[in-house]
Amino acid sequence: MPRRDVRTTEGRAAMLHAIAHIEFNAINLALDAIWRFDGMPDPYYTDWLRVAQEEAIHFGLLRDHLQSMGFDYGDFPAHNGLWEMAESTAGDVLARMALVPRTLEARGLDASPAIRERLRGVGDHAAAAILQRILTDEVGHVAIGNSWFRWCCEQRGLDPVATYASLALAHRAPRLRGPFNLEARRAAGFTEGELELLVSGG
Ligand SMILES: [Fe+2]
Ligand SMILES: [Fe+2]
Repeated sequence: MPRRDVRTTEGRAAMLHAIAHIEFNAINLALDAIWRFDGMPDPYYTDWLRVAQEEAIHFGLLRDHLQSMGFDYGDFPAHNGLWEMAESTAGDVLARMALVPRTLEARGLDASPAIRERLRGVGDHAAAAILQRILTDEVGHVAIGNSWFRWCCEQRGLDPVATYASLALAHRAPRLRGPFNLEARRAAGFTEGELELLVSGG
């Protein structure tokens, strides 16, 4: 995907389209987490249903904004990374929780503030407000991922830090680069030890 110049309407629309596509995939991913993995406690299913509902709201907000700019969902090519990780982790709920909410959605926490500020900087305050809404809700999604990841580790007698490291390697998780949104990650339930590892690149 080419880097977009948010100062042009088309560049800004392309960037918002890329985020809309992530949100669209995220709806399906949350529903897939419900449908695919049975035998989890009831709150697991209500948690992911809430996530699906919020992802649908995010997608709708972005699509409405795109339309107000004279564009629509489907007008630009889109990146499929999120769905590739969904397929790669389809065999195990532990891997899914580790790599989708705790890795890819958490990466969204890091990326959102800078995107929000770029949008604000070019005067698109409506889009900046959507990015802020998404960031606030995504803290909750990552928190849900964290809590079910830890629950699975506990059930299986696994150490969360070592287990995450080996899953990230096995599923070729993208290398995470700063700046990290440590405040949001803390609010989403990452431990200080996990955050130190992240910052030190470990
Ligand atoms: Fe979202
Ligand atoms: Fe999300």
